Amino acid sequence: MQGKVVLITGGTSGIGKATAIELARLGAMVVFTTRDQTRGEIAKKEIREASGSEDVQSILCNLASFGSIRVCAAEFRSRFGRLDVLINNAGTWDFKRRETVDGVDRIFAVNFLAPFLLTNLLLDLLKQSVPARIINVASALHRGKVNFEDIEFKEHYSGFRAYSQSKLCLILFTRLLSKRLVGRGVTVNCLHPGMVKSNLGRDSGLVMRFFFRLLGSSPEKGARTSVYLASSPEVEEVTGEYFSNCMAQRSSGESYDMETAERLWKAAEAYVELPNSATSQQPSS
Ligand SMILES: NC(=O)c1ccc[n+]([C@@H]2O[C@H](COP(=O)([O-])OP(=O)(O)OC[C@H]3O[C@@H](n4cnc5c(N)ncnc54)[C@H](OP(=O)(O)O)[C@@H]3O)[C@@H](O)[C@H]2O)c1
Repeated sequence: MQGKVVLITGGTSGIGKATAIELARLGAMVVFTTRDQTRGEIAKKEIREASGSEDVQSILCNLASFGSIRVCAAEFRSRFGRLDVLINNAGTWDFKRRETVDGVDRIFAVNFLAPFLLTNLLLDLLKQSVPARIINVASALHRGKVNFEDIEFKEHYSGFRAYSQSKLCLILFTRLLSKRLVGRGVTVNCLHPGMVKSNLGRDSGLVMRFFFRLLGSSPEKGARTSVYLASSPEVEEVTGEYFSNCMAQRSSGESYDMETAERLWKAAEAYVELPNSATSQQPSS
């Protein structure tokens, strides 16, 4: 990974932090997003110490704000000027429906719209840095169908359904983007990290907080598939796949439906106000 610039969303804890440590250890220049300057400084120090690399930087980004994502993408461009690997890792889980500053369901916004927007804003940089890779951290909990009639579950909210739909959306986005980028030197894959001890339940009450902190494997183990997809020459040409345990696996039937993926893309463009986003008009070559 020497000379490669990697951007990881959510590097302050869990799988994102473990991914940052390992990729920095492999020689990459690692940049991670944080929504809090102080937590970002603490994480930067920890990642530098654990990896033995000074090539670790943080950048402010609240993924629950489209404005913050735009500022972050612009700042990233001016500070670093190239991007070899984008890892959309950050995610959230909640039992209670909360809205972002843009008035969107927070799970839908952070887990799907944020990676959609950030990726589209940085796509030209990735294309300039080919061969480049985009990696989306999804989940085996992606199930069901996209509820286009009430995509934010305003009527009958269920944190579980909101989370699983957001991860299905991320997989559909992965597949469609990979098709649009065929032949352009940018691969797009997604993954399930396994059941991992982390802070994911931080907003879902005591029981879930302890559930996520105590059950599952270590964040280091949870980071393995992200690190593999970011660094292994074995997957240099692989695109549009869903991985688990460093192996391509089948995801749910619905996650292969490209008509749904196209419809979702249009809906996402409207949400983030990104008309005719960089790749939507381009035929694959
Ligand atoms: N843990 C599991 O068992 C499991 C299973 C399947 C999939 N996943 C997925 O794995 C990914 C990583 O999760 P994790 O388990 O490592 O959880 P985690 O410990 O909670 O880490 C999540 C990261 O995302 C960041 N984040 C959350 N909301 C944000 C926002 N609005 N703006 C900016 N950053 C935000 C957090 O930042 P702060 O430190 O500021 O909160 C943190 O750095 C997620 O996409 C999750 O859905 C996890």
